[in-house]
Amino acid sequence: MKRRYLIFFMMLVLIPSFLFASGKAESEPQAVTSASLPYKTVDIAGVVIDWERKGYEILFTITAPTTGWVALGIDPTQKMRDAQFMIGYVTDSGEVVIRDDFGVSPFAHKSDLSMGGDDDIRVIEGYEKDGSVTLSFAFPASSSDLYDVILTAEEVHTFLVAYGADGADDFTSRHRKIGKVDVQF
Ligand code: HEM
Repeated sequence: MKRRYLIFFMMLVLIPSFLFASGKAESEPQAVTSASLPYKTVDIAGVVIDWERKGYEILFTITAPTTGWVALGIDPTQKMRDAQFMIGYVTDSGEVVIRDDFGVSPFAHKSDLSMGGDDDIRVIEGYEKDGSVTLSFAFPASSSDLYDVILTAEEVHTFLVAYGADGADDFTSRHRKIGKVDVQF
Protein backbone atom coordinates (compact mmCIF):
# COMPACT_ATOMS: atom_id res chain seq x y z
CA MET A 1 0.00 0.00 0.00
CA LYS A 2 2.73 2.43 1.04
CA ARG A 3 4.71 1.53 -2.08
CA ARG A 4 1.71 2.42 -4.30
CA TYR A 5 1.49 5.82 -2.63
CA LEU A 6 5.22 6.32 -3.15
CA ILE A 7 4.99 5.52 -6.88
CA PHE A 8 1.97 7.81 -7.25
CA PHE A 9 3.80 10.59 -5.44
CA MET A 10 6.90 10.21 -7.62
CA MET A 11 4.77 10.39 -10.77
CA LEU A 12 3.14 13.56 -9.49
CA VAL A 13 6.50 15.21 -8.89
CA LEU A 14 8.58 13.86 -11.75
CA ILE A 15 6.21 14.10 -14.74
CA PRO A 16 5.59 17.87 -14.45
CA SER A 17 9.29 18.54 -13.84
CA PHE A 18 10.20 16.67 -17.06
CA LEU A 19 7.58 18.65 -18.93
CA PHE A 20 8.86 21.99 -17.63
CA ALA A 21 12.49 21.01 -18.16
CA SER A 22 11.84 20.24 -21.82
CA GLY A 23 10.02 23.54 -22.36
CA LYS A 24 12.48 25.65 -20.37
CA ALA A 25 14.84 26.65 -23.16
CA GLU A 26 11.98 28.15 -25.14
CA SER A 27 10.31 29.99 -22.28
CA GLU A 28 13.52 31.59 -20.92
CA PRO A 29 13.84 35.29 -21.82
CA GLN A 30 16.19 35.97 -24.71
CA ALA A 31 19.44 37.68 -23.84
CA VAL A 32 19.15 41.40 -24.57
CA THR A 33 22.02 42.42 -26.81
CA SER A 34 23.29 45.98 -26.68
CA ALA A 35 22.19 46.46 -30.30
CA SER A 36 18.57 45.66 -29.40
CA LEU A 37 18.32 48.21 -26.59
CA PRO A 38 16.60 51.40 -27.71
CA TYR A 39 17.66 53.30 -24.60
CA LYS A 40 21.01 53.26 -22.86
CA THR A 41 22.57 54.73 -19.81
CA VAL A 42 26.05 54.99 -18.38
CA ASP A 43 27.47 56.49 -15.17
CA ILE A 44 31.02 57.82 -15.44
CA ALA A 45 32.71 59.76 -12.66
CA GLY A 46 29.30 60.63 -11.18
CA VAL A 47 28.00 61.92 -14.54
CA VAL A 48 24.96 60.01 -15.76
CA ILE A 49 24.35 59.95 -19.51
CA ASP A 50 21.23 58.51 -21.11
CA TRP A 51 20.78 58.32 -24.84
CA GLU A 52 18.22 57.06 -27.27
CA ARG A 53 18.13 56.97 -31.06
CA LYS A 54 15.07 58.73 -32.52
CA GLY A 55 15.03 58.85 -36.30
CA TYR A 56 18.12 60.62 -37.57
CA GLU A 57 18.96 62.05 -34.14
CA ILE A 58 20.37 60.76 -30.87
CA LEU A 59 18.70 62.26 -27.81
CA PHE A 60 21.08 62.73 -24.90
CA THR A 61 20.42 63.61 -21.27
CA ILE A 62 23.39 64.37 -19.03
CA THR A 63 23.29 64.95 -15.28
CA ALA A 64 26.35 66.01 -13.30
CA PRO A 65 26.92 66.98 -9.65
CA THR A 66 27.69 70.64 -10.33
CA THR A 67 25.93 73.95 -10.94
CA GLY A 68 28.60 74.82 -13.51
CA TRP A 69 29.26 73.44 -16.99
CA VAL A 70 29.03 69.79 -17.99
CA ALA A 71 30.28 68.23 -21.22
CA LEU A 72 30.23 65.08 -23.26
CA GLY A 73 33.13 64.45 -25.62
CA ILE A 74 32.95 61.68 -28.22
CA ASP A 75 35.80 59.87 -29.99
CA PRO A 76 38.99 61.74 -29.13
CA THR A 77 42.19 60.62 -30.84
CA GLN A 78 44.58 61.95 -28.18
CA LYS A 79 43.28 63.31 -24.82
CA MET A 80 40.71 65.90 -26.09
CA ARG A 81 41.97 66.21 -29.68
CA ASP A 82 39.46 65.54 -32.52
CA ALA A 83 36.59 64.82 -30.13
CA GLN A 84 33.04 66.00 -30.70
CA PHE A 85 32.08 68.09 -27.66
CA MET A 86 28.66 69.06 -26.42
CA ILE A 87 29.25 71.45 -23.57
CA GLY A 88 26.70 73.51 -21.69
CA TYR A 89 25.24 74.96 -18.53
CA VAL A 90 22.12 76.56 -17.09
CA THR A 91 22.40 80.21 -16.09
CA ASP A 92 21.05 81.65 -12.83
CA SER A 93 18.05 82.95 -14.79
CA GLY A 94 17.35 79.45 -16.15
CA GLU A 95 18.66 79.95 -19.69
CA VAL A 96 20.04 76.73 -21.22
CA VAL A 97 23.24 77.21 -23.19
CA ILE A 98 24.76 74.24 -25.04
CA ARG A 99 27.54 74.53 -27.61
CA ASP A 100 28.79 72.21 -30.36
CA ASP A 101 32.61 72.13 -30.06
CA PHE A 102 35.55 70.26 -31.50
CA GLY A 103 38.81 69.20 -29.83
CA VAL A 104 41.45 71.27 -31.61
CA SER A 105 44.40 70.02 -29.52
CA PRO A 106 45.00 67.54 -26.67
CA PHE A 107 43.92 70.20 -24.17
CA ALA A 108 41.65 72.61 -26.03
CA HIS A 109 38.29 72.75 -27.76
CA LYS A 110 36.65 75.43 -29.90
CA SER A 111 33.12 75.99 -31.12
CA ASP A 112 32.35 74.58 -34.57
CA LEU A 113 30.81 77.97 -35.45
CA SER A 114 34.09 79.81 -34.75
CA MET A 115 35.86 77.54 -37.28
CA GLY A 116 33.31 77.89 -40.06
CA GLY A 117 31.29 74.81 -39.13
CA ASP A 118 27.71 74.52 -37.87
CA ASP A 119 26.21 74.20 -34.43
CA ASP A 120 24.19 70.99 -34.81
CA ILE A 121 22.87 70.70 -31.26
CA ARG A 122 19.11 70.98 -30.76
CA VAL A 123 18.52 72.03 -27.17
CA ILE A 124 15.57 70.23 -25.56
CA GLU A 125 15.76 71.38 -21.95
CA GLY A 126 18.03 72.02 -19.00
CA TYR A 127 17.68 72.68 -15.31
CA GLU A 128 19.50 72.69 -12.00
CA LYS A 129 18.21 70.82 -8.98
CA ASP A 130 19.78 69.99 -5.61
CA GLY A 131 23.23 71.09 -6.75
CA SER A 132 23.15 69.06 -10.00
CA VAL A 133 22.71 70.18 -13.58
CA THR A 134 20.76 68.27 -16.24
CA LEU A 135 20.96 69.00 -19.96
CA SER A 136 18.85 67.33 -22.65
CA PHE A 137 19.65 67.80 -26.30
CA ALA A 138 19.51 66.10 -29.67
CA PHE A 139 22.43 65.58 -32.02
CA PRO A 140 22.32 64.21 -35.57
CA ALA A 141 23.72 60.67 -35.83
CA SER A 142 25.32 61.68 -39.09
CA SER A 143 25.77 65.37 -39.85
CA SER A 144 27.65 66.75 -42.85
CA ASP A 145 29.73 69.10 -40.68
CA LEU A 146 33.49 68.51 -40.85
CA TYR A 147 33.69 69.07 -37.08
CA ASP A 148 31.08 66.46 -36.09
CA VAL A 149 31.52 62.75 -35.44
CA ILE A 150 29.38 60.14 -37.17
CA LEU A 151 27.67 58.08 -34.50
CA THR A 152 27.35 54.55 -35.85
CA ALA A 153 25.59 51.70 -34.08
CA GLU A 154 28.19 49.14 -35.21
CA GLU A 155 31.36 50.73 -33.88
CA VAL A 156 32.52 51.26 -30.32
CA HIS A 157 32.65 54.96 -29.42
CA THR A 158 34.60 56.59 -26.62
CA PHE A 159 32.76 58.93 -24.28
CA LEU A 160 34.66 61.57 -22.34
CA VAL A 161 32.79 63.43 -19.64
CA ALA A 162 33.85 66.44 -17.67
CA TYR A 163 32.28 69.02 -15.46
CA GLY A 164 33.34 72.34 -13.98
CA ALA A 165 33.19 73.89 -10.56
CA ASP A 166 29.89 75.04 -9.02
CA GLY A 167 28.75 78.26 -10.67
CA ALA A 168 31.22 77.95 -13.58
CA ASP A 169 28.71 78.90 -16.28
CA ASP A 170 31.26 79.17 -19.08
CA PHE A 171 33.18 77.22 -21.74
CA THR A 172 36.66 78.02 -20.54
CA SER A 173 37.24 77.15 -16.89
CA ARG A 174 39.01 73.89 -16.18
CA HIS A 175 37.24 70.69 -15.15
CA ARG A 176 36.70 69.60 -11.60
CA LYS A 177 36.42 66.00 -12.77
CA ILE A 178 36.84 63.98 -15.98
CA GLY A 179 35.95 60.42 -16.97
CA LYS A 180 36.18 58.10 -19.95
CA VAL A 181 34.28 55.00 -21.09
CA ASP A 182 33.73 52.99 -24.28
CA VAL A 183 30.12 52.53 -25.37
CA GLN A 184 28.08 51.20 -28.26
CA PHE A 185 25.08 53.13 -29.56
C1 HEM B 1 36.20 73.79 -20.57
C2 HEM B 1 37.47 74.00 -20.78
C3 HEM B 1 38.57 72.99 -20.54
C4 HEM B 1 39.80 73.29 -20.13
C5 HEM B 1 40.34 74.66 -19.81
C6 HEM B 1 40.54 72.05 -20.05
C7 HEM B 1 41.85 71.96 -19.67
C8 HEM B 1 42.57 70.82 -19.58
C9 HEM B 1 43.93 70.72 -19.12
C10 HEM B 1 44.78 71.89 -18.68
C11 HEM B 1 44.27 69.43 -19.16
C12 HEM B 1 45.62 68.80 -18.79
C13 HEM B 1 45.82 68.66 -17.32
C14 HEM B 1 44.75 67.90 -16.58
O1 HEM B 1 44.64 66.67 -16.74
O2 HEM B 1 44.00 68.56 -15.85
C15 HEM B 1 43.14 68.69 -19.66
C16 HEM B 1 43.10 67.34 -19.83
C17 HEM B 1 42.01 66.64 -20.25
N1 HEM B 1 40.75 67.14 -20.44
FE1 HEM B 1 40.24 69.08 -20.42
N2 HEM B 1 39.74 71.02 -20.40
C18 HEM B 1 38.52 71.54 -20.71
C19 HEM B 1 37.40 70.84 -21.12
C20 HEM B 1 37.36 69.48 -21.24
C21 HEM B 1 36.19 68.75 -21.63
C22 HEM B 1 34.87 69.40 -22.00
C23 HEM B 1 36.53 67.44 -21.60
C24 HEM B 1 35.69 66.23 -21.90
C25 HEM B 1 34.38 66.19 -21.97
C26 HEM B 1 37.90 67.34 -21.21
C27 HEM B 1 38.61 66.17 -21.09
C28 HEM B 1 39.94 66.10 -20.80
C29 HEM B 1 40.72 64.89 -20.85
C30 HEM B 1 40.21 63.51 -21.22
C31 HEM B 1 42.01 65.24 -20.50
C32 HEM B 1 43.21 64.32 -20.46
C33 HEM B 1 43.49 63.75 -19.12
C34 HEM B 1 44.73 62.87 -19.24
O3 HEM B 1 44.57 61.75 -19.73
O4 HEM B 1 45.81 63.33 -18.90
N3 HEM B 1 38.36 68.60 -20.99
N4 HEM B 1 42.11 69.56 -19.88
